[in-house]
Amino acid sequence: MIRPSIPLAGVIGDPISHSLSPRLHGHWLRRYGLKGHYVPLHITHANLAEALRILPDMGFVGVNITIPHKEYVLDLASTVTDRAALIGAANTLTFLGDGRIQADNTDGQGFLANIRQRLPGWTASAGPALVLGSGGAAKAIISALISDGAPQVFVANRTRARAEGLKEQFGARVEPQDWTRIPDLVERSALIVNTTSLGMTGQPPLAIDLSRLSPPTVVTDIVYAPLETELLQAASAAGCETVDGLGMLLHQAVPGFERWFGYTPLVDDELRQAVLGG
Ligand SMILES: NC(=O)c1ccc[n+]([C@@H]2O[C@H](COP(=O)([O-])OP(=O)(O)OC[C@H]3O[C@@H](n4cnc5c(N)ncnc54)[C@H](OP(=O)(O)O)[C@@H]3O)[C@@H](O)[C@H]2O)c1
Repeated sequence: MIRPSIPLAGVIGDPISHSLSPRLHGHWLRRYGLKGHYVPLHITHANLAEALRILPDMGFVGVNITIPHKEYVLDLASTVTDRAALIGAANTLTFLGDGRIQADNTDGQGFLANIRQRLPGWTASAGPALVLGSGGAAKAIISALISDGAPQVFVANRTRARAEGLKEQFGARVEPQDWTRIPDLVERSALIVNTTSLGMTGQPPLAIDLSRLSPPTVVTDIVYAPLETELLQAASAAGCETVDGLGMLLHQAVPGFERWFGYTPLVDDELRQAVLGG
């Protein structure tokens, strides 16, 4: 990639004002004294193709992609990494300097890196995983769990047909389950992940029976507002290790920053405070 003297990057979404990514990348740029800027870009579906065509000429080296464009950008990319193709969505685009656009999906990598930072040596091969939800985030996480060796991935979703679709997409290790079976699955799983929006501020609670939850099951929530969800509180009370969802957001940003600004940034408490504190 030919790097402009002041490289620009950003995050594209509709809406975009809620995104924490400008704060995150801005902190890294300041902390490492790097030249560059990272900006929020409010771009609608109708304008997306044109925006991606002109951004490289304006000095942009890449962009993150968020709701609702993560699937559609695959049609606009010149090359798509294997993991983005498998998931069917991208969150990181890199402008290769010759008009080509590379699309990647780093959500699954961010998910695994977050757990490993909190629990060094953790691996998905430890036992079955229970994934609650079947949306875009669930796809990235299931793909990562399988590639990391999870022997079984139970998927419980309000709309069971979506969970069935994930079995078709990711293979026999994915086992769609009824929501009503969660109490039993909780007992059988080495990892429990909430990928639904339930439990998020302003959303209904994630009301599931956790009475059979016990160590060594690890519990993680990708909702990060609030940081300690009711699920994580209940898991801590049961003596289980918990991992909050903010780290996934921070870790998924690392590959893009590396590619665009040429420096491998750290995910640490200073970054967490900068992102949370505003
Ligand atoms: N930490 C991170 O880095 C990170 C990354 C990505 C996303 N997230 C968060 O993860 C959450 C999901 O994101 P997404 O992109 O996967 O969204 P999505 O594609 O819209 O999927 C939403 C999921 O939540 C379920 N759901 C929603 N409302 C529900 C309800 N009232 N009862 C039961 N299930 C319900 C949906 O079930 P149905 O299929 O039945 O509709 C679906 O499985 C969001 O809160 C998002 O902010 C965090």
